Amino acid sequence: MTQSNHQSQRREFLLRIGAVAGSTLLVPFIHGCESTELYTLPPLHVTVDFNVANSPYTALKTVGSSVDVSFGNVDGVLVRVSEAEIIGVSRVCPHQQGNVTWDNAAKALVCATHKAKFANTGAVVTQPNNGDKLTTMLPAWQVTFDAATGKVTVKT
Ligand code: FES
Repeated sequence: MTQSNHQSQRREFLLRIGAVAGSTLLVPFIHGCESTELYTLPPLHVTVDFNVANSPYTALKTVGSSVDVSFGNVDGVLVRVSEAEIIGVSRVCPHQQGNVTWDNAAKALVCATHKAKFANTGAVVTQPNNGDKLTTMLPAWQVTFDAATGKVTVKT
């Protein structure tokens, strides 16, 4: 091997290492460009009263069922989790604002976008599956339910 041939191979090797190192350094930079803002809970400002027996939400007469609602400008989901309890949470995922729905088989609220899973209290059960930032808990509403009369009061 000649001196010039050896130098040429060494130069090519260093260029390849540099390309790999450069792309490795670029990955955190690209991730750093993404938004880090999490969705924040709308203020508690809407109170809605209805009766499960004679309202648009009669599905709530059945344990395990859920209904999507929009009260004011706030989208949420109400779930009849037991004979005595209805819960309500925001339908907007705090992670990256995906749509959250009730999965009755899993007894959990699941985000369609990155499959984060939340308990019916809004607590995080499973973090998003995209390896990005973590989600915070799902904003929960204040819901009172009188099973004897069917009266529901929701405060967002
Ligand atoms: S937007 Fe809900 S898990 Fe990512």
